[in-house]
Order: sequence, then C-alpha cells, then structure tokens
Amino acid sequence: MNNKKKIEDEINFKNLLKNPLRLYGWFFLIVFVVILIGGIYYVKHLDAIYLNSTPTAIFAIDSVKVEEIPMKKGGIKPALDLSLVKSPLPEMLKKGKELFETTCSSCHGKEGKGDGPAGAALNPKPRNFHSDEGWVNGKSILGMFKTISEGIKGTGMSSYDYIPPKDRISIIHYIRTFGNYPGITDDAVSKLDETYHLSAGTVEPNTIPLELAIKDIIKENKPLIEKTNKIADEIKKSSDNNAKLFKSLTSNLTNSIYAIEEGSLLKDFNAFKNKIFADPLDLGFNSAILRLSDKQLKSLFDYLKNLTSKTVS
Ligand code: HEC
Repeated sequence: MNNKKKIEDEINFKNLLKNPLRLYGWFFLIVFVVILIGGIYYVKHLDAIYLNSTPTAIFAIDSVKVEEIPMKKGGIKPALDLSLVKSPLPEMLKKGKELFETTCSSCHGKEGKGDGPAGAALNPKPRNFHSDEGWVNGKSILGMFKTISEGIKGTGMSSYDYIPPKDRISIIHYIRTFGNYPGITDDAVSKLDETYHLSAGTVEPNTIPLELAIKDIIKENKPLIEKTNKIADEIKKSSDNNAKLFKSLTSNLTNSIYAIEEGSLLKDFNAFKNKIFADPLDLGFNSAILRLSDKQLKSLFDYLKNLTSKTVS
C-alpha cells in the first residue's frame, strides 16, 4: 500500500484555476509581508522623513555662478530734479507716452478719452482727460500725482506707486497734452515736494562686485577650510573607535568638521551637546547621533577636541 499522498491530491490545481478565490488565504499573507517590508523601510528612513532639512554644504569656488554687480561708490542720490516737474525733457514726454499706452490706456483710452475697453464696465467710468468734469483730486500737478501715487479708493483707479516718481511726472506731462491744464507754478512744485518729498535724497550704500566679495570670504575662510581637510583626512585614515563612530554618523565628514569648527563647538562639551540636540542635520549628522549615550558623546567630543588641537592649519 502506498500511503504517501501526492500533492495533487491535496490541492486540486485544475479547480484552483477555475476558481482563483480559493487563494484568498494566501492573499492575507502577501498583504502582511508587503506591510512589514514597507514598515521596515519607513523606520529605516525615519531620519530623512522626520528631520527634513538640508545639511550644511561647502561649495567649490567654481560652482558659484552669480550675476556681476558693478563696483559703485555710495552716497546721497537726489531722487528727482524738481526743475523737471516744471519743464520736462523731451525724452520724458516720450517715456510718458510709452508708459501711458502700456499701463493706462486700457481704461483711459489711447487718446485719453476715458473709453478704453477695460474701462467700459467700470462705475465710475475712467476719467476723460479732455474734459474738465468730474475730477476728484483735480487737474493740478499735485492732484494728478496724488491720484497716480495713491489711487482713488473704491474705484477702478488703483495706486501706481511702483512707477518711479520721475516716470509718474512724465506720464502726467503726457496726459497734459490732451487738453487744457493749469500752468505749473513754483508754488505748485514746492507743494508737491512738501507732500511727497521728491527732492529728498536717498542714501545708497557702497557696493563691490560679488566676485570680489566671494574671493574675500574664501580668503578669510581659507585657513579653516585647510584645517578641516587635514582633520577629515586624519579621521578617514584612523581605525580608532571614535573615528569609526564619527564616520558612521555623518554622510559628509568634511562638512561636519567644518560646521563644528566654524561654530567653535569644541570649547565646551555642553555647548557641543546642545547644538547637536538642537539641530544635528545642521552639523551634517544623521539622527543616529541623538541615540548616543552621554558617555559615547563625551568620548567623541574628547577625541575630536584632541585631534583638532593637534592639527594646525
Ligand atoms: C483699471 C482701469 C484703470 C486704469 C488701468 C487706470 N485708471 Fe485712472 N482712473 C480709472 C477710473 C475708473 C477713474 C475714475 C475714478 C473716479 O472717478 O473716482 C480714473 C481716474 C483717473 C484720474 C483722474 C483722477 C481725478 O482727480 O478724478 C487720473 C489722473 C488717472 N486716472 C490717471 C491714470 C494713470 C496715469 C493711469 C496709468 C498709470 C491710470 N489712470 C490707469 C481707471 C483706471
């Protein structure tokens, strides 16, 4: 007698193909395994998920590409020559026309008749610059400057204070060519200046080219960078337990040492520890460093302190 059962007797494969639902039990096992693997992956990468920030980086000199700023001496720069308010230069009229057509004519119309397409649905209607009627702030230079600078609340006329004062004056001069406007007296100019301080100087700081500034910074930091590289080489070569520990705690040895040195963190163990606990990633460490015991941390501290005091740049 043959007692041995064949597997085909246990599982009827033909039936299974006809009715795959019989695999239902296996399905649970598969889901369980998938969740388990996902869970392990999640926990392993918890550092990156939880401490989601970028560690410090040292850039190679050539990798910094910047738009150049010209060298310029600072000083007091007069904001607006008041004589231009009374008698504008021809190029100001040209600029005024350009700006009017790009910024204002959609409402006020190309000829300033208040009939631009964007103004059709507005209430009140955009001002007709050929007419004397309905002006809120008035046709004086002060009134118009006020309108353009501050807008008229509750209407389609908004503030255009981002347009430089000189260009605002240019637009006004262009609008004045549409019809009859009051003459510009000295009195009107000084009133305008009193209200908007157009002739008050603005202080401009000295500027130096960025490339020069970066070179300066690199020059200042050169000894520190050299020292950092020496210490990093030392740790890479070493088989000391602390060196091994250090290597396992950071993905970029040089960055971590640089950050520690730059922050003068090796003067005092508590300062070192506090900084690490406050922001390990800022020092280029992974969060495994948070799980070290005080003793391990102190030993690491002593090791680094000893190493850096021996290394001269
Ligand atoms: C979105 C539409 C719109 C645009 C764009 C616009 N305005 Fe107006 N503007 C108005 C409306 C509406 C009024 C009428 C407000 C009122 O009657 O209270 C007005 C009124 C004025 C007035 C008359 C103010 C007064 O005292 O009554 C001046 C001057 C003026 N705008 C200048 C300009 C200038 C300059 C520009 C471009 C830099 C400009 N506007 C762009 C809608 C516009």
